[in-house]
Amino acid sequence: MSDRTVLTGIVGDTLQPIARNVPAEEPPELPPNAELRVIGKPVNRVDAVPKVTGQARYTYDVRLPGMLYARIVSSTVPHARIKSIDTSAAEAYPGVKAVHILDRVMSIAQLRDPSVEANERYPLVRYNGQPIAAVAAVSMRAAKAAAKLVRIEYERLPHVTSLEAAMRDDAPIVFPGPTEQAATAGGGGATPGLPQKGNLRGPARGGPRGDLQKGFAEADHILEREYRTQVQTHTPMETHGLVADWRDEELTLYASTQYTLSVRDDAASVFGLPKDKIRVISEYTGGGFGAKFGIGNYGALAIHLSRKARAPVRLVLDRREEHVSVGNRPSSIQRVKLGAKRDGSVTALHVESYGTGGAAAGAGVGFCHSAMYPIPNVTTEHYDVFTDAGPCAAFRAPGQVQGIFALEQVLDEMAHAIGMDPLALREKIDTNDTDDARARKAERRIGAQRAGWSQRRPPGADAGPVKRGIGMAQSQWVYIVHGGTTTCEVRIRGDGSVIALCGAQDIGTGTRTVMAQTVAEELGLQVENIDTRIGDTRYPPGPASGGSRVTGSITPAARNAAHLAARDLAARVAPSLGAKPDEIVFRDGRVFVRGRPDRGTTFVEAVRKANFDEIVHRADRREDYEGYRAKFGELHISRHGIGGVQFAQIAVDTETGVVKVERVVAVHDCGRPINPKLIESQIYGGVIQGVSYALYEERHLDPGTGVQLNANIDQYKIVGARETPAIEVHLIEQLGGQSSTDARGVAEPANVATTAAVANAFYNATGKRIRTLPMTPANVLAALRAEERS
Ligand code: MOS
Repeated sequence: MSDRTVLTGIVGDTLQPIARNVPAEEPPELPPNAELRVIGKPVNRVDAVPKVTGQARYTYDVRLPGMLYARIVSSTVPHARIKSIDTSAAEAYPGVKAVHILDRVMSIAQLRDPSVEANERYPLVRYNGQPIAAVAAVSMRAAKAAAKLVRIEYERLPHVTSLEAAMRDDAPIVFPGPTEQAATAGGGGATPGLPQKGNLRGPARGGPRGDLQKGFAEADHILEREYRTQVQTHTPMETHGLVADWRDEELTLYASTQYTLSVRDDAASVFGLPKDKIRVISEYTGGGFGAKFGIGNYGALAIHLSRKARAPVRLVLDRREEHVSVGNRPSSIQRVKLGAKRDGSVTALHVESYGTGGAAAGAGVGFCHSAMYPIPNVTTEHYDVFTDAGPCAAFRAPGQVQGIFALEQVLDEMAHAIGMDPLALREKIDTNDTDDARARKAERRIGAQRAGWSQRRPPGADAGPVKRGIGMAQSQWVYIVHGGTTTCEVRIRGDGSVIALCGAQDIGTGTRTVMAQTVAEELGLQVENIDTRIGDTRYPPGPASGGSRVTGSITPAARNAAHLAARDLAARVAPSLGAKPDEIVFRDGRVFVRGRPDRGTTFVEAVRKANFDEIVHRADRREDYEGYRAKFGELHISRHGIGGVQFAQIAVDTETGVVKVERVVAVHDCGRPINPKLIESQIYGGVIQGVSYALYEERHLDPGTGVQLNANIDQYKIVGARETPAIEVHLIEQLGGQSSTDARGVAEPANVATTAAVANAFYNATGKRIRTLPMTPANVLAALRAEERS
């Protein structure tokens, strides 16, 4: 370790030199982006052409010789014991090569009830659409036909599909015994070992900080409000899918996944295989928002079928299965009590929340209440409510989207109650002495100016039926660093070509591109000169694409490896240039002596002269220079965060109840921005997904059967091009002195604030509050009719 002085702060404001204890092997600190050549530049994605020409091979596109097609047999009832399963007709169907019945339900945040299931031959059915078995056949048509021939005899049990009904004393019980958490936490991070009564599990307490009673006693104004959010299902462009190829010597899995290593590790544990016998390949993944981890039920089925049939098996979910069975953002009811003084200081916050993640735990509402503002007295109490519905899973800023919808709206309500500008209220209370708070302060200033906040009119100012308004909300997320090893390898070949390798996948965010930029910067090359190879567990281990952690985890490893390769090459070429190795500079495709650009040669020529076959260097992403605030398995939580501020301008048609989001100004921080074009693209996506959640998306279950009535992308409305607002992104460049690139993520904060900003704009437009999502015409008209309480 060595003490170094690094610059921190927001570029363009003042940068402060701060001492950091940096491992001696770390490359020198990078200057601000303006002084760099490739990092910080809006270069095109390195794989843009294969993507838009259809050459990119997604799991969906994988075709192997002799490959079979599989279809899942799912439950047709919402709650039952399975008495018998007869697969004989399916097995006899022409072209069928294997049938498999699940002997256990894979986790995906599923809860298990050991007291019941220990005695059962088959897993209990806990929602309509739960996978039970699968059939593999020579064609998709045969697999579909045969799947319909599997006969399942059920003993029906009483069921309940809605949160409200599940909370009643006489409600059917989803998990009769105490539940144990099987694996991955779902939406809000399920807490193990909580009390359980009926379908309620909890409370999970957050905070608690200070003295609530005292805090409310000090308040001049107290607001008590209830906010409701709906279940949002996962709708990535590519559905979940796996192609399993079981051979005697190795199991190869092609996976549409957010984490190649989780697929390998799940398969190893379920099938009792050594990890080194499993290879996972994920060249391209068509989106993933929190539910594409591990093998899932569908993956376990595909692997079983491949083993039985001795052939590769492709199991790609259809859109219905995607909506129903792989996870969703849980719903919430949030009862919020907020106390503030006349000057806007907030004295106390109490939140009691209920959420249903169906047959899974983890429906919490995030950590914003105690973490965003320094509120002196805070307590949150959350209950998971079990229902006979598809399980929740993580979904882009799990819990936080729901929590901020309520928190940022109740603050807006408080601002109006005490006659204060909502932005001024944030200035009053967002006073943590952290670089997150300083970033938000800068973001509020930029956003207010760009969004025209000073021209904002009083609530309900438009006379006609269409009313316009603007609103703002803040975003907050943690800066997560991948805590398993993240390693990159850089090879310089004798012909001057450069290869960068990492096993991590790309869910669409641009993993290859940020790696290529980082390596190119270090070697004085351009992204086209770097051949990046990712998405294969044979490459060095990479991070999960979850928790907004790829860029912040992978680019330091890539830079560290490229730095070692550059220093190695420098040592080889220095003698021929009559210089010392540490005088050698790599820039603009050339290798030369510092201060003497004429004393040098091209990169390719330098490599050829050095006369080697290949230089290979590997390096890891080391810990944050300041260490971490907390570590949970592979989640290492930085002392710093990420966030942003968004301003929405909307129009509400008060006759039809149709809301149109016209414009969103999104101002965000992500440490050092590696590629502004990719970051803007992610923020566009976050805003679009936020608008979609605010206005349209909602799972509808039929209470009688538990069937999802809109499990398609026709009736499950998602925002389209016509409903997409004009989105204006502004990034700040913030240096934290934490790693060799100082990059952080942006994916999750990009969609956290949007819904709350739209809701606050609704109030500014109409003078009425909308506290129930989504803002469908029915919910809008009900909100417009409601009598306001004060
Ligand atoms: Mo996610 S919810 O960051 O996979």
